[in-house]
Amino acid sequence: MRHLISVADVSEKEIKELIKLAKKLKEDRLKGVTTDYLKNKSLAMIFELPSTRTRVSFEVAMTELGGHALYLNWNDLQLGRGEPIKDTARVLSRYVHAVMLRVRDHRVIEEFAHYSTVPVINGLSNLEHPCQVLSDLMTIYEHKGELENLMITWVGDGNNVCNSLILASALAKMKMVVSTPEKYSPNPEIVKKAIEIGGKIIFERDPRRAVVDADVVYTDVWISMGQERERDERLKAFNKYQVNSELLKFAKKDVIVMHCMPAHRGEEITDEIIESKYSVVFDQAENRLHMQKAILLKLIGEKL
Ligand code: CP
Ligand code: NVA
Repeated sequence: MRHLISVADVSEKEIKELIKLAKKLKEDRLKGVTTDYLKNKSLAMIFELPSTRTRVSFEVAMTELGGHALYLNWNDLQLGRGEPIKDTARVLSRYVHAVMLRVRDHRVIEEFAHYSTVPVINGLSNLEHPCQVLSDLMTIYEHKGELENLMITWVGDGNNVCNSLILASALAKMKMVVSTPEKYSPNPEIVKKAIEIGGKIIFERDPRRAVVDADVVYTDVWISMGQERERDERLKAFNKYQVNSELLKFAKKDVIVMHCMPAHRGEEITDEIIESKYSVVFDQAENRLHMQKAILLKLIGEKL
């Protein structure tokens, strides 16, 4: 029994296997081939925060694999009235085959996983967003034909998606340039772990210099869920970190631009760039479905 709480829970070899499997599932879906690999399996999905992509892609993934997904809003569960996480984890483990959680505080997922006897999947916490980033590796692979030795530049807030991408780039042997204001640097423990894995991470505060050799430029919101009260301060701090046509003049001609979405056009990225030929944001969103099917099969599938 395994959990997927951090990107670091997956090995380099498994990343390759997941991408291969996700691509196969994507092709099968296009051909109309149906599979029931998860027949009679249930996934509980606990959301403390809103979601469009994660909720819908996991639910459709379970349905298309012949299983069932339950959407559970934190406040509609007894959790919202104070039932302990450790009790909820053990009760749900008696009903379902896996639990996906989206929570404010990463420690909640860790505690849940400690007591759960079924696999726990991180559907976003303040620290990481592993399902997003594993899907993104698939998208990069589809567009660039490889991962190893590519250069990926992060521009903006050193947030949960950035943390997961730092670990993913280390595992996939991609170089990573991180361009954030100093106050909004990524989590130092994550950076340390990525370096231990062998990651090559460069910090460059000037976004124009940071994008110069990039094959991929990735950005995300400046104000993540739960940070709404910091809005004014953050808008000021990230002012020069917008991904726009001026910035991309400094990048390679065949650069791709990524964003996990939801995007705030006019803040971290312009409408023009999201709608441009550089943008692969809708491929990223689609690949959540295929990659999460692959993840579910790895964690709770019996036959392939
Ligand atoms: N990227 C992502 O996780 O989107 P949602 O918040 O819509 O799930
Ligand atoms: N960093 C964003 C990602 C949303 C999918 C947030 O945490 O709100």
